[in-house]
Amino acid sequence: MHSKNILLIIGGGIAAYKSLELIRLLAKDGFGVRAICTQAGTEFVTPLSISALTGEKVFTDLFDLTDEAEMGHIQLSRSADLLVVAPATADLMAKMAHGLANDLASTCLLATDQPVLLAPAMNVRMWEHAATKRNVKTLLDDGVQFVGPNAGDMACGEFGPGRMAEPEEILTAIKAQLGGGPLTGKSALVTAGPTHEPIDPVRYLANRSSGKQGFAVAEALAALGADVTLISGPVNITAPSGVKLVQVETACEMLRATENALPVDVAVFAAAVADWRTDAASCQKIKKQKGKATPELCFTENPDILATVSALPKNKRPQLVIGFAAETEQLIEHATQKRLRKKCDWIVANDVSGDVMGADHNQVVLIRETDMDPWPKLSKKQTAQKLAAAIADELSETIK
Ligand code: C5P
Repeated sequence: MHSKNILLIIGGGIAAYKSLELIRLLAKDGFGVRAICTQAGTEFVTPLSISALTGEKVFTDLFDLTDEAEMGHIQLSRSADLLVVAPATADLMAKMAHGLANDLASTCLLATDQPVLLAPAMNVRMWEHAATKRNVKTLLDDGVQFVGPNAGDMACGEFGPGRMAEPEEILTAIKAQLGGGPLTGKSALVTAGPTHEPIDPVRYLANRSSGKQGFAVAEALAALGADVTLISGPVNITAPSGVKLVQVETACEMLRATENALPVDVAVFAAAVADWRTDAASCQKIKKQKGKATPELCFTENPDILATVSALPKNKRPQLVIGFAAETEQLIEHATQKRLRKKCDWIVANDVSGDVMGADHNQVVLIRETDMDPWPKLSKKQTAQKLAAAIADELSETIK
């Protein structure tokens, strides 16, 4: 048996069927799982299926005398190391945000003194409703952690954020929350996404970076137990749970946020930082005027964040500094030169001549001082997990 126990609360949403797979993954990983299924949840999955997978009785009723005699709801809520609500419906989240306790699930969530992780699942309009937004903010302020929701096709036929995170993602978030991985006690910073360099109040220079690879690296490091600060330019993706997100716009802001996050043990620079910013962004919108020449933009070079951090004195420099090299030709040559020029320890070289920008997959070569390791085409999440594992190996090597 795993030393960690999960109390899984299954709410009433179509995504409840994925919770059965989550139980299977948790059990395979050695976690102990007890489940509460709300009344509405039992409309989607049966207690019999749940208990066949957990190997335990499923709790459904606050006023069940047999349940209370076997295990009171207070004990049930506190005997777990983590409470996971999946799917977390809009209703359950509203109850939690307001401290309601009118069924077994909401009572346990109010009575617990253990951390809580929510995997929301609902229609996109419900997720985007002002009331849900208020509740999410309240819950975040209360210290509740979130995994997802993801954007995608929904069972109701609409598209957008509201899909419950996949069971594997929830498992990763659970592990990150419970710690104990090889990077426990280590700190990491990750930069991600593009930067926006203003031209005037309404226009800016940007690039096609989606932030997916950097976010996946932050998630993978957190899953191994690291304390992660993710510094991101403007992106359209949700921050992984258990990661401290710092949002910036420009390269200069990203440098400042990076310096504020130091010292750390490992720094991964996955952001696509703009090389230049406009000399002086106009305070007013630049007007198009008939007969006048088109405006000319003059550029100033942005600070190189990776090179700046690599050049820090030993007592301030992260033990491991990793850059990314997105190249469209002569991948290995250019990336190797970049590693030497920027004085980082490792560089992750990727060929972006195809459809990598914004896609979910990547194919990289990890270039170190003494070797280079070409990895197969993998999802960005798998690439991130492989990189996080290599980082964990390196940091444990240097401790020995
Ligand atoms: O020079 P290039 O942009 O190709 O270098 C890529 C690497 O350098 C990436 O790791 C990127 O995050 C980092 N970088 C940076 N600051 C810049 C430009 C690039 O940290 N101004």
